[in-house]
This record gives sequence, structure tokens and C-alpha cells, in this order.
Amino acid sequence: MGSVETLEPSVFVIFGGTGDLSRRKLLPALARHFEHGTLAGKCAVVGVSPDTSVNDESYRDLALKALSDAGLDKSAIDQLNENLYFQTIGKGTKDDYAALASRLNDIRKKHDLPQNYAFYLALPPGAVAGVVEGLDGAGLSKPEGWSRLVVEKPFGRDLASAKALNDKLHQHFREEQIYRIDHYLGKETVQNLLVFRFANAIFESLWNRERVHSVEIRVAEDLGVGTRAGYYDKSGATRDMIQNHLTQLLTLVAMEVPTSFEADAIRHEKIKVLKSIAPIDCDRVVRGQYAGGTVDNRKVPGYREEAGVADDSQTDTFVGLEILVNTWRWKGVPFYLRTGKRMKKRLTQIIVRFNDVPVSLFRSKGLALDTADILVLTLQPDEGFSLHFDVKEPGEPFRLKRIPLAFRYKDEFQDMPEAYETLLLDVLEGDQTLFVHAEEVEESWRVYTPLVENPPPLHSYPAGTWGPKEAEHLRVPEGDLWR
Ligand code: BG6
Repeated sequence: MGSVETLEPSVFVIFGGTGDLSRRKLLPALARHFEHGTLAGKCAVVGVSPDTSVNDESYRDLALKALSDAGLDKSAIDQLNENLYFQTIGKGTKDDYAALASRLNDIRKKHDLPQNYAFYLALPPGAVAGVVEGLDGAGLSKPEGWSRLVVEKPFGRDLASAKALNDKLHQHFREEQIYRIDHYLGKETVQNLLVFRFANAIFESLWNRERVHSVEIRVAEDLGVGTRAGYYDKSGATRDMIQNHLTQLLTLVAMEVPTSFEADAIRHEKIKVLKSIAPIDCDRVVRGQYAGGTVDNRKVPGYREEAGVADDSQTDTFVGLEILVNTWRWKGVPFYLRTGKRMKKRLTQIIVRFNDVPVSLFRSKGLALDTADILVLTLQPDEGFSLHFDVKEPGEPFRLKRIPLAFRYKDEFQDMPEAYETLLLDVLEGDQTLFVHAEEVEESWRVYTPLVENPPPLHSYPAGTWGPKEAEHLRVPEGDLWR
């Protein structure tokens, strides 16, 4: 979102540099920026991990493999590798951090870079405290230039742990230095929500309780838990998806018009939405867990049969719930959030169902349809949006037909940058608009902590469906008409 012209040269340091996120997302995103020329001559990248057997050369080999797997071509890989280094952090002692500081200094001098550092913590939550202490102790939180800290989710497991994490971060870094990543905010279609709402005057007059009947935000994944049971079985869908990604989408749909297109103004409006969410009614929550089934013509095991999952696991892989936002704009309009793994297909959509006409001329004549107008924003895949309404079918008998007025990104634009490409550049540009403020995290946990502490019963659903039948009522009526 920032401007490439304001990009100051810096060193990008990845803690967890040999890990999965680094290989799959971070190194490819950085390589693309080198390839496009955005970072050329402006950035050195340093991978950090406790591993003492890795050196610059073997790290470049690891990057070569990761980047080839990600489909990058040789020139992009070479450009990143010319600027790529590795430094072990060993056991994380004071001396290890001093050694890191001195190595970073050498690297930046070699590349003629100022003392600007971005530290990306691609680490499990338990490792974060030690790293921020270590960085601060070695003077890396207050260099001559700037120092920014990028923190991955999860931000805590509940309100108390999120507060403790924020307190810990604030002991060593100021909020202006902290970039909490929610990768959904980096998706082009999610950023487009702001443009859709605030660059097009016609929607604003419809965007309220007078006109909107209900809103559904749904993130369906066809994948199962995969190899991540160790993390996922202790989290479940509420912690993994609802508290962060879906709630971030909710804030963008429900927020008031910000006073400017600046990080503070936008985040201020998002926080107001979170503060206005009413306590969740547990009777309006349905949790589910996938059983064996068929996805994409392939037989797949149930969640409890997955590697690393306990036979009697009570972890939810699906959650559907109702949120009420008690503002003047939204009072009484239900927002349904639904997400699940191993669903019929991958589909992320926001569905806005408008109110019915006050008197239905056509239905009273026994004609089908005459249904509510529905706006569907498809965030992934096949990104785009469509507005569905009724037209008269030509000829006799007099019949109505529902038609979409549709826009698809791929018809108009070729390139969709990966979320991480956008977000990493924003960190380097110092633009916090697409990152989550401490207060947002805490307000969001205020909403969901009672739910994760007292979860309602779990229902089973076969893999390859849209979730448990018990959750059918937690969606916008007629919201599936466009299928
Ligand atoms: C992650 C969750 O944050 O988001 C995963 O931990 C989930 O469980 C993923 O699969 C979904 O992201 P995307 O971008 O594929 O929709």
C-alpha cells in the first residue's frame, strides 16, 4: 500500500529462516521483489536459526530448492542469492545476539546499507519473548536508523495470553515498530474491500441496517489438517481462522468511513467495530469436526484419523457463528462467520443480502423468484464480485430469472501479487495499514475468549460437504442462489 519511492534500504532478517514459512512464502516473496527491481541494491536478507550446521552456502542451496519449488526462474533466484546470508543464533545467549549484531553490521557495510533492520519472527509463539529480549539486549531494537519487528499469528490463545504477549513486545519495541501479520489483509481482494466501499459512492447508501438483511463471511478450505496437527489440534478453527482472518474481514465490511487513507485512521475504525461486537450467544455457534469422506473424487480420512491427532480429539475443524455489531449502522443485522477444513471446495466469499422489496408484486401472483438482491464478493479463488437480481425472461409466460452482473479479476488484470509480497514491502516502507494493532488483537480476543473457554458441543460432518447440517441456519437466506 505504501510507495516504492519511499523505500529506504535495509537488512531483512528472518528468524526461523530455515522453516516452512520462510521457504514457502518469505523467500519467494523477497526473490520476486529482487526480480522486479524493487529491492535490487536496497536490501540484504539474513536467515537466522539455532542450527549451527548451516552456513551462507548451504542456506543459499536451501533457498535455491525452495525458490525452484515455488516456480521462480533462475534470474530471480540468483538475484536473491547474491544478497542472502545465514547466521546461527545458537542457544540464544547474550553472546549469540552480540554475534548477530556484529554480523548484521558487517553485511550492511558490505552492501552499503544504513542501520535499518526488519526482524521477521517466523517462529512458534513460545520463542517470541526470548528473541525480542535478545534483540533489545544487543541494541538491535534501537539502531541509528529504524528497527521493525514482524510477528506472525497466533497472537495468544485467549485475552490473557494476548495481553501478556503485547506487554512483552512493548517492553522492548514501541507499537509503531511492531507489524502483526494477518496475511488475509495482504490479499488483493481484501484490500479491494476498502476501494469497493469507499471509492464507489453507490454502495455507501446501501451499507446499513435499513438496506442490508444479513452478511455472511465464509472461508471454506478443501484441505485437511495436513502435517500441522501438532499446532492445529491445540487451536481449532476459532483460534486458527475466526479470531483473526474472518474477524479482520468483518471489520473491513462493517467499519465506518475513515477520516483518511492512513494506517491510524483505518485501524481506529476497525477497533471501533470490534468494541461494538455484542457478547456471542453460544446458542448461535455450531462447531464441527470432519469425518472421512470424499473431496475432489478422492477418499480422505476423518480428522481423528489424521497423523498426530488424538482418537478422541474435541478440536473443531469447522465453526459457524453469528456476530451482532451494536452500532447505529448495523444494529440487528446478523453477520454469519463460517469456516471449515475439508469442505466441498476452496472458496472465500463475503455475501451481502439486501432487504426484500416491501410488497412482493410478483410472488403474490405465484411467480417464483422475486428474491432478495445479493452481492457476492469472491476473495478466492476466481476473484471478483457479482450482484444478483431478478430480470424478466423474454417472452411468455411471464417469468423471472435471477442473473448476475459480474466482474472477474482475471478478465481484466493479469497479475495478482501474493499477500506476502505486499506485506513484506509494506514493512520495509513503514506502512502499518495492513497490520494488526495491539488493541485490535485484544478486542478480538475479548469477543472469542468466552467461546474457546466454554465451547459448545461438537458435531461431525463428512469431508467434502459444506459443514455440519446443524449449522445450516447460520447463513444468509438464499445466499447460495448464485451457485
Ligand atoms: C492460516 C491457517 O493462517 O491460513 C491455516 O493457519 C489456513 O490453517 C490458512 O489453511 C488459509 O490461508 P489461505 O490464504 O490459503 O486462505
